[in-house]
Amino acid sequence: MREILAEYKKTFERQLQNILAEYVCDIQPIFEALSYGVGNGGKRIRPALCYLGADFCGKDTEYIKDLAVGIEMIHSYSLVHDDLPCMDDDKLRRGKPTAHVVYGEGMAVLAGDALLTMAFEVMLGDKYFDQNMLKAMRYIANMSGVKGMIGGQCLDLANESKENFGIEELTKLNRLKTSCLIRGALVGSAIRCGADDKEIEALEVYAQNLGEIFQIVDDILDRTSTEQALGKEVNQDVANDKKSVVDILGLNKAKEYIKELENDAIAKISDYGKKSQKLIDLCKFLSNRTN
Ligand code: IPE
Ligand code: IPE
Ligand code: MG
Ligand code: MG
Ligand code: MG
Repeated sequence: MREILAEYKKTFERQLQNILAEYVCDIQPIFEALSYGVGNGGKRIRPALCYLGADFCGKDTEYIKDLAVGIEMIHSYSLVHDDLPCMDDDKLRRGKPTAHVVYGEGMAVLAGDALLTMAFEVMLGDKYFDQNMLKAMRYIANMSGVKGMIGGQCLDLANESKENFGIEELTKLNRLKTSCLIRGALVGSAIRCGADDKEIEALEVYAQNLGEIFQIVDDILDRTSTEQALGKEVNQDVANDKKSVVDILGLNKAKEYIKELENDAIAKISDYGKKSQKLIDLCKFLSNRTN
């Protein structure tokens, strides 16, 4: 899986740079700040999920490129805003100073807004635009907004310094703040590529579990890894007085919980045989990721 992800990442960086190069904007400061926000350094897991959704439906990385770039722009905007002093107050992201450290808070807010808007501009520009793309974009808007990622970020703010915060609250939070964009990438791509209802239902459950796994591992790494390995500050959840899975379940139980989520995710898609093998491999890979 590591090799496939490395190949996908190369493809994505090329597609992103082509789209940015074609974008005519003479307000240089904002263009520079948004390019910095979406620029290299990320693992590009969401674009990889777009490519895997297309692959599941027999389509290639070229066919799904506008959706992949759009999703990564939305994800990058969420990180630029997540790092602001009024949110998690982080100074390092993807191994570089955060956008507000480099460009100032006002510009970082605008860069995030610009990335979100540009994401939809890029997706609307899809040269194969059709009814499926429209459906996919509506799904992605839904997954990014108040019923999805933004709703989750809102619960995350409310989690700060909260006493009665258990596994049910955390699950709801993780599903919204992280699973929703992961669903947007994988299921959005499958919708765009014409998957049928049964396939979409199976991929949704898989992606929801994958997103939970992704965030639980992120929370574990926040406590157990290093700034060098992650390219972002560590121990930030404690610093922000956020209860994470490590506080609620403890490290060992959290790892068992990841295994349960992984088994359930894999069971949901294993009916599809060879078609779902890369998704199965990705789930195992992300459960054990170290950065
Ligand atoms: C970070 O996402 C935010 C979470 C949902 C945990 P990633 O770990 O995918 O960040 P990048 O894109 O690789 O920087
Ligand atoms: C962020 O979760 C999820 C988003 C929707 C941006 P975190 O706040 O845990 O992500 P990191 O640790 O800053 O990457
Ligand atoms: Mg956060
Ligand atoms: Mg954060
Ligand atoms: Mg985190």
